[in-house]
Amino acid sequence: MSERLEDIAQQMVAPGKGILAADESTGTIKKRFDSIGVDNTEDNRRDYREMLFRTDDAMRESISGVILFEETLHQKAADGTPFVDLIRAAGAVPGIKVDKGAKPLAGYAGETVTEGLDGLRERLDTYYDAGARFAKWRGVIAISGALPTAYAIHANAHALARYAVLCQEQGIVPIVEPEIVMDGAPGDHSIDRCAQVTEAVLTEVFSELHQARCMLEGMVLKPNMVIDGQKARTASVEEVAEKTVAVLKKTVPDAVAGIAFLSGGQSDEEATAHLSAMNAMGGLPWPLTFSYGRALQAAALKAWSGKAENVAAGQRAFAHRAKMNALAATGQWSADQEAA
Ligand code: 13P
Repeated sequence: MSERLEDIAQQMVAPGKGILAADESTGTIKKRFDSIGVDNTEDNRRDYREMLFRTDDAMRESISGVILFEETLHQKAADGTPFVDLIRAAGAVPGIKVDKGAKPLAGYAGETVTEGLDGLRERLDTYYDAGARFAKWRGVIAISGALPTAYAIHANAHALARYAVLCQEQGIVPIVEPEIVMDGAPGDHSIDRCAQVTEAVLTEVFSELHQARCMLEGMVLKPNMVIDGQKARTASVEEVAEKTVAVLKKTVPDAVAGIAFLSGGQSDEEATAHLSAMNAMGGLPWPLTFSYGRALQAAALKAWSGKAENVAAGQRAFAHRAKMNALAATGQWSADQEAA
């Protein structure tokens, strides 16, 4: 008898915890390793992820789930313990990125649609057997004065909805991630333009989820925050928090189990400050937490730098960021806690 989707989803957004996005594809982790001069070998990928998953205090206290790439789902720690077992032993839920990446949308220059629906039912079955209880699919929405087009929004929302219901059919909670990119080109959009596009995208996503018969109580939304482009960052923490919550309240049904943000290129501390400010506002219909990749890992990656003697330092850096974001998930973070 499989667990109920609603219960898994609740566990993923449990109070004071959030999700570690460690699902970098082999190509993306190469970029991260290049930044610290480490070769992208299977052993190095294993050592790096093992360092994170064995950070016991952080995993137990602050992490509700871990998104894995396919290789990592089936991978073992150096002593032969399956990673899935390490994650479960820490009380967190193992999850899996199932999309095959954002590919150029034919006929629509500068826009993409995410692929991976063909054969997904069978792959989900395999992932379930390997221990995954939630999945992630990321739709990528370009933003500029002219983009996105209505067609690109529709194509990505449609794929997200088809993915979501296939997951639910297989006993897996879908993380639905429509990301309006903050750090793409041209990257000079205003916060109000981001609000407008985010509202349009989330409206379309929930319309498609409704038509596809997605059970909202058994899904988690992973949105971008409403924020100005990387090359035009001027909005204050309060403005980002207020405008993000306003758009979410207009577009996300109360029945959704929870919302876990991506960090999208924000600095570690910005991502934490924004989340904390939103939770401090109170009166939200859904739990609001993190599902950060870069903003949870950047400091740990740098401290580690591929050296076995730095594992403890890498774990300290990860534990600190996880703790700061766990505080933010209940609105209790403040800048002076960064120093402690
Ligand atoms: P970032 O937090 O680095 O944006 O990554 C989260 C993620 O899972 C993107 O798909």
